[in-house]
Amino acid sequence: MAKRVVMSEGVLTPKFTIIRNSKSLNYVQDLNFPLIVKPLWEGSSIGIRRDSKVQNFKELKRKLEWLINSYGESTLVEEFIEGEEVTVGVIGNENPHVIGMMMIKPRIGNQRDFIYSLEVKRNWREEVEYFSPPPLSEQALCELSHSALTAYEALSCRDVARLDFRIGTDGKPYFLEANPLPGLNPETGDLPIMIEKEGIPYAELILSILDSALRRNRLTAKSRARV
Ligand SMILES: Nc1ncnc2c1ncn2[C@@H]1O[C@H](COP(=O)(O)OP(=O)(O)O)[C@@H](O)[C@H]1O
Ligand SMILES: [Mg+2]
Repeated sequence: MAKRVVMSEGVLTPKFTIIRNSKSLNYVQDLNFPLIVKPLWEGSSIGIRRDSKVQNFKELKRKLEWLINSYGESTLVEEFIEGEEVTVGVIGNENPHVIGMMMIKPRIGNQRDFIYSLEVKRNWREEVEYFSPPPLSEQALCELSHSALTAYEALSCRDVARLDFRIGTDGKPYFLEANPLPGLNPETGDLPIMIEKEGIPYAELILSILDSALRRNRLTAKSRARV
């Protein structure tokens, strides 16, 4: 649903279909391999593993059956975008703004096959490297920022969100998903890691989120956050 909403505002997202059981495999005929198979309603890489990228129908069928049996829910099958991965933090309500962007790069294996999977998220210290700001051109950063803000507003996000993108072969950002309640663990959360790399103290991040929520409810705090 999120993909449909952002598409309606012109944000690019990988071509996709929803599959309810492994007998409806013919729905993928308009998609080009490689594909990624994800549970429709999860988050935090639940159901997204190292082998979630599939190259042909045989692999797709095997992965679909595993997902449907394990999670008992429909699956989202998308074209796999082999380019760089960037996550974008947005804060605010009336005038949302980007508070940071972070590129997530594999330390092990190649970029083309990289999936920020459950296994990688559990072992992130060894397996990934984070770059904030991402080493991308001004134009690419500008497009990412524009797509993130458009998606944030289209989805009626409030106070804070983190939006995930991959860069396509055309150099454009493709929306993967929005995290409207991004993890805030000070050591392991992607948003806190991004903020720390930008030299912003964790307390400032929390105060800024609180500030947005207070303003939205027409309340004021005694002191203002700076982010
Ligand atoms: N279409 C795609 N192309 C390439 N990688 C993808 C795609 N969809 C998901 N991924 C990989 O899987 C990871 C998790 O998927 P995502 O849609 O962000 O769900 P989650 O809520 O579990 O984080 C992404 O961070 C990315 O590495
Ligand atoms: Mg994600």
